[in-house]
Amino acid sequence: MRCRQQLVLLTLAAVVAAVAAQVPSLGPCPEMKTMDEFNVNKYLGRWFQAERYFSLFEFAAKCVISNYTDSGDGRYLVVNKHVNALSGLKSVIQGDLHVMGRQDESKMTISFTSVPVPMDLPYWVLGTDYDNYAVVWSCSNFGLFSTRNAWILTRAPNASLEVMQNAYSVVDRNGISRAYFIRTDQRNCGESSRH
Ligand SMILES: *[C@@H]1O[C@H](CO)[C@@H](O)[C@H](O)[C@H]1NC(C)=O
Ligand SMILES: *[C@@H]1O[C@H](CO)[C@@H](O)[C@H](O)[C@H]1NC(C)=O
Repeated sequence: MRCRQQLVLLTLAAVVAAVAAQVPSLGPCPEMKTMDEFNVNKYLGRWFQAERYFSLFEFAAKCVISNYTDSGDGRYLVVNKHVNALSGLKSVIQGDLHVMGRQDESKMTISFTSVPVPMDLPYWVLGTDYDNYAVVWSCSNFGLFSTRNAWILTRAPNASLEVMQNAYSVVDRNGISRAYFIRTDQRNCGESSRH
């Protein structure tokens, strides 16, 4: 019986993982400390993805870059580009970053409008110095489970160890497991995928 329950739980976890294409964890989203005085304007611009949580959504994605811009009409636009490391195909995904509460609140949401199933996901900046690194967290509750996603973004395609350590200290401070992080390949991306 116990074994069957575990099987059911495992199956559920797999379903949730497939639906959300993210790391499923037992239990609700953990508490996270977001930033007290976030400045979205300083956050805008181009970021290279240095590391990410394993997710099917981004499976085999390399050369991942995001560009956040102020649309001028109160919206922040997101353009994500990546190259599929297996097929070599380039993809562009567009969306909106929404500031929900106060302007200095780093709890935002991101919605991708150019994908078959539009998604609205939490986008919480846990820490950034704006010039070198940012740590972004996204967690959604699904009953018994939650799906967790995290990214380390850097302004440089190949950030120094010192910059990465500053990012890791944000990761550690929030009790985020480093076990699921994988490095994003930013080598041989070519200038054409940099724009
Ligand atoms: C990245 O930087 C490290 C040292 O800062 C260097 O050893 C390495 O070759 C660089 N890699 C690339 C792809 O530029
Ligand atoms: C980001 O997007 C804006 C608006 O489309 C564009 O003007 C800018 O050149 C882009 N920046 C980078 C670094 O790609």
